[in-house]
Amino acid sequence: MRQSPLVVVANRLPIDDSVAPDGAFEWRRSPGGLVSALHPLLRHTPATWVGWAGGTGPAPDLPDVDGVRMHTVPLSAEDFRDHYEGFANATLWPLYHDAVEQPEYHRRWWEAYQRVNQRFAEAAARVAEPGGLVWVQDYHLQLVPGLLRELRPDLRIGFFLHVPFPPPELFMQLPRRAELLHGMLGADLVGFQRAQAAHNFAQLAAKVLGLPATDRRIGVDGRVVRIGAFPVAIDTAEMSALAARPEVAERARRLRQDLGRPEQVILSVDRMDYTKGIEQRLKAYRELLANGDIKVRDTVLVQVAVPSRDRVAQYQILRDRVEHQVGRINGEFGRVGEPAIHYLTQPFDRAELVALYRVADVMAVTPLRDGMNLVAKEYVAARVDGTGALLLSEFAGAASELEQAYLVNPHDLDGLKQGLLAALRAGPEDVAARMRSMREHLAHNDIHAWAASYLSALEESGTLVGRRPATR
Ligand code: ADP
Ligand code: F6P
Repeated sequence: MRQSPLVVVANRLPIDDSVAPDGAFEWRRSPGGLVSALHPLLRHTPATWVGWAGGTGPAPDLPDVDGVRMHTVPLSAEDFRDHYEGFANATLWPLYHDAVEQPEYHRRWWEAYQRVNQRFAEAAARVAEPGGLVWVQDYHLQLVPGLLRELRPDLRIGFFLHVPFPPPELFMQLPRRAELLHGMLGADLVGFQRAQAAHNFAQLAAKVLGLPATDRRIGVDGRVVRIGAFPVAIDTAEMSALAARPEVAERARRLRQDLGRPEQVILSVDRMDYTKGIEQRLKAYRELLANGDIKVRDTVLVQVAVPSRDRVAQYQILRDRVEHQVGRINGEFGRVGEPAIHYLTQPFDRAELVALYRVADVMAVTPLRDGMNLVAKEYVAARVDGTGALLLSEFAGAASELEQAYLVNPHDLDGLKQGLLAALRAGPEDVAARMRSMREHLAHNDIHAWAASYLSALEESGTLVGRRPATR
């Protein structure tokens, strides 16, 4: 087994098995923010990515992707159901997103979570060089840092959570809360998207495990674990360069023509997820049409909603409801050849997605809760001509950085409508000034700066301290 100095461990590999329209089997870039963030970062580094390839059964052998070695971890049908769909996406995901849907607790799911985390930890232990660095990602793998430290105490271990970390009153619901916290504390550095998440984590380490904890350091087992906020980013320069390509600009012009040359295009791009606020947004749009504040001929909405976790009941219910809503709005307000909503559920290649960003006068990103939301950052990076208004939820991590966006509370329907109208009606100077400041922020705070700040904090971590008795 060849070993690497840097190992990334994430539930998903950057490529996913899928079936092409002609029925052939093909490998495709995996959807989602984690891959969008890490893929450009690792390109051409001597790293190994440990992850799952998207199917069930034996692990396929994958070729290197852009020079990065792919090390596949297999999931059985039962692991997929109880670990991925169950504990990860029907317990932790809703709980960590403000419990906007009811989290479910099942002991069988917890067993699967432990089993799969053990498998990932063993795989990482095999492929990491002596004294190497292992960077564990996200909520699917919270036990891996602790398990890996037992297997390979020589390693430096980082953990980064891409999703929100909830306040104690929600986290305390978890039947196995102490084990989860302890698992994360196996890392030398635990990174979060926002400072509030690090604060929540420190409070829980003190309350549940009785550890000495501040918002920057936690003492455990004679070690110091550093914690902090490292808001994840995108490859800004690459996104801007793609958007500036003549063929992308031309594609954007064609798209506008195909949309019937409306005065304004509103775009939303989400995974089909109940955290993304799709239903609330469609409701706001419908009310604006019903009141005559906007007209279909002048303003069109393009909603891209790529299906996600589509065997989980809450996701199936959401998709049915969204499609019912889209059908109803188009039936009520569309005309022949002029739908009120252009609804697309297909995955797009990067160039097509960026052409869509270029055509959007208003980008509506209104999740009920989101760790970061990279779509918002991608939109800003793609607006190379300095135009375009970003409507952004206060509850997306991105709102802490993109303060010049039109910020809205997506739970407040009237506020959402006013925000959308404000973005649609804003004067060009206001729009340009806001966009300029957001673009400047992203030019300096890109994915390379993110990795550098996380990895240098990880280098500095690992001093000894005393331990306080548990008070639980
Ligand atoms: P999440 O991590 O919850 O999926 P993010 O907004 O952070 O949300 O990241 C979503 C990523 O997936 C972005 O990089 C976006 O470009 C990509 N994406 C979303 N929808 C599509 C689609 N239909 N086709 C291709 N990529 C998509
Ligand atoms: O951080 C959010 C996240 O769960 C990522 O881990 C992943 O990139 C994305 O959402 C997509 O989700 P899934 O891997 O379940 O399709």
